[in-house]
Amino acid sequence: GLIHTIKGLTELESALENKLNIRKVLVVPGNSDESELVLKDMGRTAARFLKKIIKKSNIIGITGGTTMAQVAEEMPKGKVANDILVLPARGGLGKDVETQANSIAANLAKKLDGNYRLLHVPDNIEQEAINALLKVSEVKEFVDIIKKLDILVFGIGRADVMAERRKVSEETIEELIDRGAVAEAFGHYFDTNGNRVWESITVGLSLVDFKKVNNVIGVAGGEKKAEAIISISSIREDMILVTDEGAARKILKLV
Ligand code: F6P
Repeated sequence: GLIHTIKGLTELESALENKLNIRKVLVVPGNSDESELVLKDMGRTAARFLKKIIKKSNIIGITGGTTMAQVAEEMPKGKVANDILVLPARGGLGKDVETQANSIAANLAKKLDGNYRLLHVPDNIEQEAINALLKVSEVKEFVDIIKKLDILVFGIGRADVMAERRKVSEETIEELIDRGAVAEAFGHYFDTNGNRVWESITVGLSLVDFKKVNNVIGVAGGEKKAEAIISISSIREDMILVTDEGAARKILKLV
């Protein structure tokens, strides 16, 4: 029955908090590998949590992907605090406009009646071009604000899936595999122990910045992402994770 299910999820949450050694875990029922509704539910749960912690003048960063798109989509309309600012955490990471961090940040800001700023960086750009971009005052300003994030909401992906989605070269994929990459988050690739093994060339949140953000909320589910979630959870002990039962049960088998 329902009560049993709820109790089961609460137990899963505390088991995961212990095993992953992170601040808080929220688990929604089901497996998002199998159902879109579960993805929506994760989005809604993350949005509600986010809404509760936003304070006046907060700067909120958000990444791209289908999960983050749901977080913005499921955010109930209404102002929670004055003067909030929403930003995409990194530029130029996705091909699909609908799931790009820019449109997600704008959508989230509109829902919260806040302000937003966008960052336009083309995909698959060379480092030289990035260096030139960083001299543009608008881009420079953006990168400075990113360092002051109060809250980061971010998606977590499998390294192989994300490398393919970004159409990185065969050569790079082989190197990623060689270095043991299993996870991807905010444009960085990590091995099982959360060591960074690769970084996409773009502008925005760095790993050093990530470690300084007060509230980091990772949202990812589906059994297939279990290993990626374990990796990212090992980067910061005070991370908050919103996941689903599919990933949760698989993680407990792995750790
Ligand atoms: O490309 C942005 C991003 O947030 C990645 O950093 C992350 O790995 C991925 O999207 C998650 O995408 P999805 O929610 O669609 O699995």
